[in-house]
Amino acid sequence: MKPRVYVTSRLPPDVVTRLEHETVPAWNKESRPATRAELLAGLDGCIGLLCNINDRVDDELLNSTSASALKVIANFGVGYNHIDVTAASRRKIAVTNTPGVLTDATADMAFALLLAAARRLGEGERVVRAGSWTGWEPLQMLGADVSGATLGIVGFGRIGRAVAQRAQAFGMKIVYWNRTRLDPRQESETGAIHAPFETLLSQSDFISLHVAYGPATHHLIGKAQLGLMKPTAYLINTSRGAVIDEAALVSALANRKIAGAGLDVFEYEPKLTAGLAKLDNVVLAPHLGSATLGTRTKMGMIAVDNLLAAWAGKRPPDCVNPEVFG
Ligand code: DGY
Repeated sequence: MKPRVYVTSRLPPDVVTRLEHETVPAWNKESRPATRAELLAGLDGCIGLLCNINDRVDDELLNSTSASALKVIANFGVGYNHIDVTAASRRKIAVTNTPGVLTDATADMAFALLLAAARRLGEGERVVRAGSWTGWEPLQMLGADVSGATLGIVGFGRIGRAVAQRAQAFGMKIVYWNRTRLDPRQESETGAIHAPFETLLSQSDFISLHVAYGPATHHLIGKAQLGLMKPTAYLINTSRGAVIDEAALVSALANRKIAGAGLDVFEYEPKLTAGLAKLDNVVLAPHLGSATLGTRTKMGMIAVDNLLAAWAGKRPPDCVNPEVFG
């Protein structure tokens, strides 16, 4: 007997092969998210759901007859704010994620956005492609120095620390803000100094966001916080879009209250807040943080490990609601 699972999106080839060998999968094979109707139909009779950020797994879905056999929701990703974990726990359904394997890829993306925003890469590329570049000039597209600048890291978990590691190689001064402060040994390893949130905002040349999204971090960066930033500072976000009040950010960027931003995630993704795409001082990426073949393959393999463990009646390795097994 193999578990029946519904997979809401296409996945890397090695993950597909494994799912076909070790489970009885049903798929959304389109290059777009599964619709609610497809999700409900596909889930019928399945013990496992392999889903991602595009799928709203709420109380209503879990209450449907389609979900009556469901034992495990294996999220393909580390952030799981699109899943109602409390509703799942009530029904003894395990929820799992894929921590660890996307740390480096996401930190690389944060740094790529930081460099691109500082050195005006998006803007420069548009000029070259448009054929409007007239040649080198001493004052053309002057950007900001990264080496030696102060980086403020908001949220100092795995990804925040991996960003700090990269920043060390650039000779940056690193300050961080986190709910819990690291012990002195860890602080010296990362080269980062703890600072109160407001101090970090007002002293940093670059601010990179690495908090999990939830009620406590919704609009953590709004008009007031943007107002504390230096007019020469840049804001980088690879966490979740709604950590920033995007309308306030558009206004701050348009009015040059801050110098620029690099965004991989958006408050209403894939839609953008009006005005954002028109601004030259923001670099925009389509949620590519973990988008390397190697990383996405590892994420898929971890999701399958979690599905199979729950199917075997074991606590999955990356269970975010262990109370289900208590
Ligand atoms: C993650 O793993 O949280 C990525 O943002 C994709 O959901």
